[in-house]
Amino acid sequence: MSSLQIQIHGYAIVSDDDRIADSDGATPKSLRNDADWAYFQSELDRADIVALGRLGHEANANIKRRRRLILSSAARGLEQRDDAWWWNPAKTPWRDVTAKLLPNGGRVAVPGGQAVFDLFLTIGYDAFHLSRAGGVRLARGRSLFAACGRGLSADSVLSDAGLNPDGPQIIDAAAHVTLNVWRK
Ligand SMILES: NC(=O)c1ccc[n+]([C@@H]2O[C@H](COP(=O)([O-])OP(=O)(O)OC[C@H]3O[C@@H](n4cnc5c(N)ncnc54)[C@H](OP(=O)(O)O)[C@@H]3O)[C@@H](O)[C@H]2O)c1
Repeated sequence: MSSLQIQIHGYAIVSDDDRIADSDGATPKSLRNDADWAYFQSELDRADIVALGRLGHEANANIKRRRRLILSSAARGLEQRDDAWWWNPAKTPWRDVTAKLLPNGGRVAVPGGQAVFDLFLTIGYDAFHLSRAGGVRLARGRSLFAACGRGLSADSVLSDAGLNPDGPQIIDAAAHVTLNVWRK
């Protein structure tokens, strides 16, 4: 556990060239996989709060009524709305968010997108659950981290962030999907 007993876990499925979405900003079918989805959902069930970008929040109805923290530059700081907590990191520091929302510590799940993944790189991941759809390439698509769009691999970004891989495990052999959990 890191300080304040907060654990931060990132989750993404990427193409071979470390993209999370295509050039239109949409997630293609080639990055959708039932085994990965089942794993992701089971992990979200273990989280005390799910931190995601406004677009992801608007695109994915909160059917399971999970506790969400929505990142948006339109939030006044940290504010509670009918649908979720909303947070603008430029106005309220992370330590104030955790003090308010997770006073006894807990687990934060981070499902992206890119700017959210980048922000939590600076805060610090305890683990990053990186699935990969082998054989898929999405040239000019949206990269996992901004640095991947500048030529760095996701693996090198995670390694530079102080994480080490468990090693890839096959979660869907027919679809060539692997999961590698990187840990502090
Ligand atoms: N393959 C995967 O694992 C994966 C993971 C995540 C997303 N995706 C895909 O990627 C696409 C959407 O991702 P996205 O990156 O475009 O959108 P997103 O992260 O869901 O939402 C972006 C919005 O979040 C807010 N935001 C993010 N970081 C912020 C920060 N540091 N400070 C303030 N506001 C912040 C901004 O909202 P405001 O405009 O309100 O300021 C920004 O416009 C979708 O197709 C989605 O399905 C795929």
